[in-house]
Amino acid sequence: MLQNLSNIKEKAVKTIKEAADLESLQEIKVALLGKKGEISQLSRSLGSLSAEERPQMGQAINQAKNSLEHVINEKMAELQKAALAARLNEEAVDISLPGREFLCGGKHPLSLVREEIEEIFLGLGYKIAEGPQVESDYYNFEAMNLPPEHPARDMQDSFYFNEKLLLRTHTSPVQARVMEKQAPELPVKIISPGVVYRRDDDATHSPMFHQAEGLYIDKKVTMADLKGTLLIMVKKLFGADRELRFRPSYFPFTEPSAEVDISCFACGGAGCRLCHGTGWIEILGSGMVHPHVLEMSGYDPELCSGFAFGVGLERIAMLKYGINDMRLLFDNDIRFLNRF
Ligand code: PHE
Repeated sequence: MLQNLSNIKEKAVKTIKEAADLESLQEIKVALLGKKGEISQLSRSLGSLSAEERPQMGQAINQAKNSLEHVINEKMAELQKAALAARLNEEAVDISLPGREFLCGGKHPLSLVREEIEEIFLGLGYKIAEGPQVESDYYNFEAMNLPPEHPARDMQDSFYFNEKLLLRTHTSPVQARVMEKQAPELPVKIISPGVVYRRDDDATHSPMFHQAEGLYIDKKVTMADLKGTLLIMVKKLFGADRELRFRPSYFPFTEPSAEVDISCFACGGAGCRLCHGTGWIEILGSGMVHPHVLEMSGYDPELCSGFAFGVGLERIAMLKYGINDMRLLFDNDIRFLNRF
């Protein structure tokens, strides 16, 4: 039996030393010292020995067990060290590699234009107002002096949910919403940027686009105030040399109405391709708020007057940044967006 033990031990030390990795070492350990392992089996057969032999053999088994445990632990430490070294080698950081590039987002050109316009008007004491994109027929048309069957409704065809609900065709309904809420208090001074929708689609029109509405109502507001205010805006947007030109126009909600042009910033007014040789570029629609519009939203046209304008943000962005196709603004092409 003693001989058997010493054979087992000798063989075991050899296999332990040859273990290739931690898993196989663990398997060897179980096969040797586990509950059903070779050494335990040997202990179980102690009962068959005589009373003299038993303690001697028991001691020998314990010694063998301890020394094998020691050998296993040593081997384990060795394998662990090797595994760590291998991992460190594998995961080593090459500090000579170039760093990873961080992609940092930027603002969309339309956001830049909207923020610039907001800043200009906040500086003039205006407040920012917002309105819903799904708008009622009442605010989009009726309160803007376009009763049902009014022929000028054809200028702004839209997307309808039903007879009374549509995607707003302009930011002008915010005029009525703000006035209605505030009436009869003066002044009303708001700038309202937002998304609008029309049945239009080509290189300079998109079915979804952006406008900013301006509205100023107070005692004795005149067209001179409109012109002075717009002049401040275009000089800030397009340079201090810009001039304005008002052309008579028609909107049901303003009277009189004016289409506003700026002197061409590309040629300074001499005439070029951008301004089609005229020296002027159309940028927005405006006018003095129609007395009926004031009345419908709770203001007395005998006591106050005001101006309004609506400017297309895509148009401003295209002019300002020299973009020749409006669709570029909505394509989300990173090569285009990265330029801003
Ligand atoms: N709402 C008009 C449009 O979208 C623009 C406008 C606004 C004109 C305010 C006059 C006054 O065409």
